[in-house]
Amino acid sequence: MGKKVLVIGQGGREHALVWKLSQSPEIEKIYAAPGNPGMEPLAECVAIEATDIEGLAEFVRRSDISLTVVGPEAPLVKGIVDRFRQAGMLIFGPTAAAARLEGSKVFSKNLFKKYGIPTARYEVFEDIAAAQACARNIIETGQAAVIKADGLAAGKGVVIAQNQAEADDAIQSIMLDKSFGDAGNQIVIEEFLVGEELSFFAISDGENFVTLMSAQDHKRVFDNDKGPNTGGMGAYTNPPLYSEQLHQQIIARIIKPTIEAMQKEGCPYQGVLYAGLMITAEGPKVLEYNARFGDPETQVLMPMIKSDLLPVLEGSAAGNLHGCKVDIDKGACVGVVLASGGYPGAYAKGKAITGLDRLQADTIVFHAGTVLKDGQLLTDGGRVLAVVSRGQSFADAIHKVYQEVDKLNFEGMHYRRDIGRRALN
Ligand code: AMP
Ligand code: GLY
Repeated sequence: MGKKVLVIGQGGREHALVWKLSQSPEIEKIYAAPGNPGMEPLAECVAIEATDIEGLAEFVRRSDISLTVVGPEAPLVKGIVDRFRQAGMLIFGPTAAAARLEGSKVFSKNLFKKYGIPTARYEVFEDIAAAQACARNIIETGQAAVIKADGLAAGKGVVIAQNQAEADDAIQSIMLDKSFGDAGNQIVIEEFLVGEELSFFAISDGENFVTLMSAQDHKRVFDNDKGPNTGGMGAYTNPPLYSEQLHQQIIARIIKPTIEAMQKEGCPYQGVLYAGLMITAEGPKVLEYNARFGDPETQVLMPMIKSDLLPVLEGSAAGNLHGCKVDIDKGACVGVVLASGGYPGAYAKGKAITGLDRLQADTIVFHAGTVLKDGQLLTDGGRVLAVVSRGQSFADAIHKVYQEVDKLNFEGMHYRRDIGRRALN
């Protein structure tokens, strides 16, 4: 009998995880909760919300599932791993204490300072006037002040303030108006780092780790990084700036010390460690950690992993990655997100998606915001689909992906035309 696995979540990231796991020879059946229509051919979707920890635990027990894989951060921070472990169920992801690496900027920044892990200089505030004074001091030197809510804020808790009015607004909104609730009880104010951003992924069992790849996300909605931030409009793997020397620096200065620090703090980190890095003139520095896979980075990482992912996730969850290896493809992989008209602002749903039947066999489409109604695929979210192509080179993969994107359509569809272009320069 093969194994049964549950993937928690409903976005493009979780579709990519389901897609990759479906290639494991050891797996007989995949469930997704709540899943999305794109996963249907590969997984049985069950209508349980990602944060319904008791509902999920009950389902896992009843369905004889041997491994649960958590996609989004909310159930991690809520303690799903602790709950499952207490019940003796194998689950991939960090405990609530370890997920503080993402869930609390104050925790993570203090950890970096204590263990000498390179990051932007910062101060923590609970008092509005003191926070405003700190921002003023930074801005008076001609620098931008980076203002961050302590807790989770759905990717909106960071403001880069260029002047005092912007800083005051941000501090007031987070601390006084509580725009992110208790996430704003404390704030971090830090220096603005200049450099190129890079996402780096490793999987740890609490002590040992394997490295996956690096990727670059495109957070702004429009070409040339214009317009407001989004959840991510596209990504590509291993950008040219990612050299062997940089890889070694990231491991030695950031990943290894973080895993050791978490062990010393009594909350060993098991799961995927997603480091948001700034590659500065002084080398890599951590902007933030996430306790989960990136979205849309996962959509370009998974197609590049040649080995079976299941033993790595099981090894991490069981605290035994010993002997696990991850083989990575040599080529390039580029993913373009197709978004609803208006996203990241207000947008309409229920638009018919056409052209999927015209794509080449080796093109991968990951669903994020889609719904199936009377046999027709409709848009159902801001980020709708990610189209992913692999190639021998970046030029190859970029050319292919945009040829495929041109075949797809829905009313209001928009996407960036420059995904991966930086890799060509
Ligand atoms: P975070 O959620 O901490 O990753 O911040 C979101 C985004 O804000 C990052 O992806 C960066 O683009 C930017 N950012 C955060 N901190 C800094 C910083 N200290 N210097 C420059 N940009 C930053
Ligand atoms: N790609 C950004 C994120 O997953 O947070």
